[in-house]
Amino acid sequence: MAPGIRSSTIGSMTMTVHEAGFAFVDPTAYADEPRFEAATALLRRESPVHWVEGPGFNPFWAITRHADIFEIETKHQIFLNEPRPVLGTAADDQRRKEHGDMLRTLIHVDDPEHRQLRGVTADWFLPKSLATLDTRLAGLAKATVDRMAGLGGECDFARDVAIQMPLNVILAILGLPESDYPRMLRLTQELFGAADEDLRRGGSPEDIVAVVQDFFTYFTALTEHRRAHPTDDLASVVANATIDGEPLTMMQTISYYVIAATAGHDTTASAMAGGLHALLEHPDQLERLRNDPTLMNTAVDEMIRWVTPVKHFMRTATVDYTLRDTTIEAGQSVLLSYPSGNRDEDAFVDPFRFDVGRTPNKHLSFGFGVHYCLGAMLARMELKALFTELLPRLDSIELAGEPALMKTIFVGGLKRLPVRYELRA
Ligand code: HEM
Repeated sequence: MAPGIRSSTIGSMTMTVHEAGFAFVDPTAYADEPRFEAATALLRRESPVHWVEGPGFNPFWAITRHADIFEIETKHQIFLNEPRPVLGTAADDQRRKEHGDMLRTLIHVDDPEHRQLRGVTADWFLPKSLATLDTRLAGLAKATVDRMAGLGGECDFARDVAIQMPLNVILAILGLPESDYPRMLRLTQELFGAADEDLRRGGSPEDIVAVVQDFFTYFTALTEHRRAHPTDDLASVVANATIDGEPLTMMQTISYYVIAATAGHDTTASAMAGGLHALLEHPDQLERLRNDPTLMNTAVDEMIRWVTPVKHFMRTATVDYTLRDTTIEAGQSVLLSYPSGNRDEDAFVDPFRFDVGRTPNKHLSFGFGVHYCLGAMLARMELKALFTELLPRLDSIELAGEPALMKTIFVGGLKRLPVRYELRA
């Protein structure tokens, strides 16, 4: 299409810039990659700072260029996470205004509270602390692939493999008993899959409140137990932490568990399933990686860029701020579109090419700045462990049906990836 035309055509459908903005408020748009990519490419080109007034949502600016997302993330004194860190419906916003946040996790708060809260576990997530996990992750990866081998040569990789391993990792780190893993799996899926009828508990706001209450009940008991009987797990670090000599409030403590259990789960699982799917769709890259395992680090980051499991976070301006030629007024919110930034032609050479050796790869999948993903190193280690175990044991692998993406406007990826394979024991 000629530059300057404010519309885009996919198949038989022509989309205007105005319609493209609705991609961010429509869970089905993320489940339809060509449509989403056409919408965001159009916005990057024609309206990179774009005002969206979606039906049922309070308005916001959609930010689609890599450089602009980066700029906003680094200005954390101007662009705050409070009061709107994640896009919800106008009804959700109203409820939050009236009753406060259901949770107060790291992503809900700003400095100085954010710095103090993050300090509670920051050391725990440093590379030198995580290094001791390597052997444990290798063992979990082996158990995961062994289970896949036992499934008779066909499985749904998203459901049977990818969703299991990150959950096992994070729950093991938290120190929860294995018998509770299925319950946590269901709760995290109900929380993040709220827009997808296959995953959610029910369609109403009350259902989400009930899911959060279940998290509270479970983690209140855990906190009490770890205060009485501390161990060396992450739950004990959080339960016994102090800020200015005071223990965390129950809301802060429980929110910490919930973010660890949820942020570390569907995100990493989506990167795993989407990563394998990308390798299947690009057999030359699969072969290249099998022949040269030293590419594993760059391959993992490319999978994370390719999939971009977190679709957005939001910030709200505290003062008027001019971005490109547009003024974002104090009190207005911006939506940072990470999938769009990760396909920005100005930031990546050939961004629509899946390249397991891509370097540099300054993707935005983990965000940037003070809220940069605390678990980024852990997520990379998990993906590396899984693919390091899986690839050498595969004699063959192919798609055995249609993959399907989750409907979501926040976190997600493939919910179904049927594969047929020959795996060595
Ligand atoms: C591929 C997997 C993952 C992706 C794509 C991802 C992505 C993100 C993104 C985009 C943010 C917000 C960054 C920002 O606002 O600038 C974030 C924050 C966070 N992530 Fe992850 N994440 C992943 C895995 C994990 C894991 C394994 C954990 C482990 C517990 C984790 C824990 C967190 C926490 C605690 C925060 C909040 C940090 C803060 O606000 O200070 N994430 N993540």
